[in-house]
Amino acid sequence: MCGIVAGVAERNIVPVLLDGLRRLEYRGYDSCGVAVLRDGAPQRVRSLTRVRSLDLEVREMGLEGGTGIAHTRWATHGAPATQNAHPIFSKNEIAIVHNGIIENYETLKRTLSGAGYEFVSQTDTEVIAHLIHSHYSGDLAQAVRSAVSELRGAYAIAVFCKSEPNRVVGARHGSPLVVGLSGEESFLASDPLALSDVTDRFIFLEDGDIVDLSRDGNRIMNRAGEPVAREPRTLRHPPAEAALGPYRHFMQKEIFEQPLAVAQTFPRKSAFDATLFGATDPHAFASIDRVLLLGCGTSHYSAMTAKTWFESIAKIPTQVEISSEYRYRETIPGRNTLVVPVSQSGETADTLGALQHAQSLGHDHTLAICNVATSAMVRQSRWSFITQAGAEIGVASTKAFTTQLVALFLLAVTLGRARGHVDAQQEATYRAQLGGLSTALQSVLAREPQIIAWAHELARTNDAIFLGRGSHYPIALEGALKLKEISYIHAEGYPAGELKHGPLALVTDAMPVIVTAPNDGLLEKLKSNIQEVRARKGQVYVFADADANLESAEGLRVIQMPEYYGPLSPILHVLPLQLLAYHAACTRGTDVDKPRNLAKSVTVE
Ligand code: G6P
Repeated sequence: MCGIVAGVAERNIVPVLLDGLRRLEYRGYDSCGVAVLRDGAPQRVRSLTRVRSLDLEVREMGLEGGTGIAHTRWATHGAPATQNAHPIFSKNEIAIVHNGIIENYETLKRTLSGAGYEFVSQTDTEVIAHLIHSHYSGDLAQAVRSAVSELRGAYAIAVFCKSEPNRVVGARHGSPLVVGLSGEESFLASDPLALSDVTDRFIFLEDGDIVDLSRDGNRIMNRAGEPVAREPRTLRHPPAEAALGPYRHFMQKEIFEQPLAVAQTFPRKSAFDATLFGATDPHAFASIDRVLLLGCGTSHYSAMTAKTWFESIAKIPTQVEISSEYRYRETIPGRNTLVVPVSQSGETADTLGALQHAQSLGHDHTLAICNVATSAMVRQSRWSFITQAGAEIGVASTKAFTTQLVALFLLAVTLGRARGHVDAQQEATYRAQLGGLSTALQSVLAREPQIIAWAHELARTNDAIFLGRGSHYPIALEGALKLKEISYIHAEGYPAGELKHGPLALVTDAMPVIVTAPNDGLLEKLKSNIQEVRARKGQVYVFADADANLESAEGLRVIQMPEYYGPLSPILHVLPLQLLAYHAACTRGTDVDKPRNLAKSVTVE
C-alpha cells in the first residue's frame, strides 16, 4: 500500500528517502517517486518499476536536496502510470505525496477547474495539490490547514513548496503518519519502519494534526490551528528479520518461523485472566456476555475460527463481522460486549473504522489482537494483546494468522475461566496443548516434500475447491485465499456440507478438491462429502489426521498429518495449505511476496 517518506535537513536527504521507500516496498506498490527542492524549483523522478530503478535514475540525474518527499503508490484513482505517480505538483510550485482516498475530489476538481487549475493526472491527490496552491499566501502550514478542512475522506500528506525552501508540512486524518526525530533533523513517514536507520524516536500524529517541519525542529497544531504537544516514543526496530537467510521468499521463511512465533506468543507463566490482555484488574472481563470479532482478509478467518472456540470453550455468544461491512451496517450494540479487532498491522483502515464505529455506538470494552504494539488499533483500544510473530514481510499472511489464533485461543480460555466453564484441570490440559504446539507444527512442516509434489499438480489447474467443516471451515477459506492471492489460481473455500448445494456442479475429473480432515466429531460426515466428490470423478487431496483412517485410493490422495490435536487442530491444518499455495505459486513463477494488485497494509477503505 502507499508509503510516505519526507524530511528537512541541512544535508542531502535523498538517500534517506530512498532507503525509507525500500523498507516500505514489502507493503506492495505499483509506482514510486521522489521530489526535492533544487535550484529554487521542485524536481522529481517517478518510476513504474521498483525503487531500485528509481534509485538508479536519481543517481544518473544527480538529484540531491535537503528538503524532499518520496512515495510508493498503490493505485486507487487512476491506473499505475507515470503521470499518476507521486510526487504530484501544482503549477511547479507545490509538491505533495498522499496516502488515502479523498471522497469529495470530484466536487473539488470541478471548482478548481473552474478557477483555472489544469489537471494532468487522474488522481485525487492532484486536487489536494491545487487546493493547497489556491490557499497559499506565504505560509505553507496555514495553506495546508485551510486545504485539509475542505477534504472528506482519509489522508496522510507531506508537502513542500518553492517559496519556503526549508519547510515540509504534513497532515493526517484516517491514514497513519509519524514524525521521526533525529537530533536537529526531522522526518515524516507513514510507518516508523521507513526511518529505522535514522532514528528510534517517533511522534505518532493524531487525526487532525498538522506538523510543520523545518531545520529548527517541528511544530504540531490541531485542526483549529492551536499548538498541540505529542509525546515522543522510543521504538525498538526488529532489524534482523528483514533478512531472507536460506529461504527463497519471505513467505517461505515466515511459514517456517511459525513454530517459534507461536511459542513466543504463548506466555507460559501468565494466569488466564484479564491482565494477560493488558487490564490492571484480573476480573475486568467479569461482566462480558458477548464477543464481537472484527477483521479483514486472513484476520477475518482467524476470527471465524475463534468463534468456534469462544462458543465451545467459554460458552459465550460470538459474532464475527467483516470490518468493511460492520462499519456501515445498523447493528444492535450490547453494553457488555467485548469488541475485538483482529489485525496483523493494526492499521487496516476498515478494521480501524469498524473499531471507531463500535466505540461511537457506546462499546467501551475493546481489545485489540494485533502484531504491532505501536499501531493505531492498539492505541485506540482499551486493552490489547500483542502477537509475537515479528515483522511479516510477505503480503500473504502466514505467521500472523497462526499467532492470532494462539492469542484468540488464550482469550477463549480466559473468558471460559471468568465464566466458570473452564476448571483448573481443563486449563492445565489447554496449557499442555499450547505448550506442545510448536513441536507439532515442526512435524507438520516436515511434510513439505510431499506437499511440493501436490503443488506441482495443482499449479497446472485453473480452479480449485477447498473443503472443511466446523472449526476447519475457516481453514479451508484461508487455504483458498492463500492459493488465489499468490498463484492466481481461482479457488473457493466451502463448508463441506454445502458442496451439494451448488459447488458440486463444478466437480469434474479436472477439478482438484482439497480437504482438511481432522479426526474430530465431524469426520464421518466429512468422509461422506469426500465420497460425493469421488463419485463425480473429482480429484481429492486430503490432509488427514493420522488417526482419521483415511488412506490413498483411486481419485483420493492423502497426506497424513499428526494425530488429532484437539481444539488447536486448525493451527496445524493451515500449515500444509500455506505450503501448498506457496509451492504452487513458485511453480507458476509468480512474485510470491508481492502478488499483483495486493498490498500488505491496506490503509485505504
Ligand atoms: C491485506 C493483506 C492480508 C491481510 C488483510 C488484513 O489484504 O494482504 O494479508 O489479511 O490486509 O490485514 P490486517 O493487517 O488487518 O491483518
